[in-house]
Amino acid sequence: MTGIRNIVILTGAGVSAESGIDTFRDGGGLWEQHRVEDVTTPEAFVRDPDLVQRFYDMRRAAIQTREPNAAHHALARLDAEWPKEDGRGLLIVTQNVDDLHERAGANRVLHMHGEHLKAWCTACDRRSPWRGPLLDRPPCPACGAAALRPDVVWFGEMPYRMDEIHEALREADLFVSIGTSGAVYPAAGFVRTARDLGARTLELNLEPSQGSRWFHEARHGPATELVPAWVKEVLAAR
Ligand code: OAD
Repeated sequence: MTGIRNIVILTGAGVSAESGIDTFRDGGGLWEQHRVEDVTTPEAFVRDPDLVQRFYDMRRAAIQTREPNAAHHALARLDAEWPKEDGRGLLIVTQNVDDLHERAGANRVLHMHGEHLKAWCTACDRRSPWRGPLLDRPPCPACGAAALRPDVVWFGEMPYRMDEIHEALREADLFVSIGTSGAVYPAAGFVRTARDLGARTLELNLEPSQGSRWFHEARHGPATELVPAWVKEVLAAR
């Protein structure tokens, strides 16, 4: 593992599973008899905004009762100890909309699918920190319009900050995917992009993901065990 300068880490729901936050696909993904995919679309929000707001209000409340686990803490340690100068870099790209990476202390985190703890005003386009419910149509703190929606990326919408992610993948010597099923694009395609551009690729997941075969190496088990062990290895080989 010598010669590594730039690392890109992609995380998914599996990294927060042991903190008690449900993954999307492991348990059938049903909510009030709806498939999660049917609740998390712009069309669903037009059809039944209360249903969608209730779903997100519930998840926003739930994540605030959860704590980061050993995997989040290990990644925060790597972020703190991995050099920031000498042209070296590290980026944690997360598909998760919880704030557990940040609460563990990580700074170099990019939320490509948005964040539960922000609301987006569809009238003035501002994002505001948000912890409470949205079901009762509270006013936007910036413009006062009752037009707030969760600041999360829905199916059919463009993930955030793709240019920055591609730039980091281009520079990456090592790409690590942690706790993601490899079912949702564009994130599921990052391994092939990174690999084609010369990075070494590693999967850390409970079980082989849909994209397992694209990785140079795959290790299977719970994130709270695999991630701290891997972080120790990377820091020792620095
Ligand atoms: P998934 O629910 O699709 O996959 C979670 C992965 O984590 C599975 O491969 C599990 O095997 C693995 N896993 C479960 N428990 C684990 C543990 N303790 N340790 C390690 N791995 C574990 O979640 P994502 O891949 O994150 O998008 O889903 C991707 C996107 O689909 C989400 O960001 C969301 C969803 O629709 C949007 O909302 C736009």
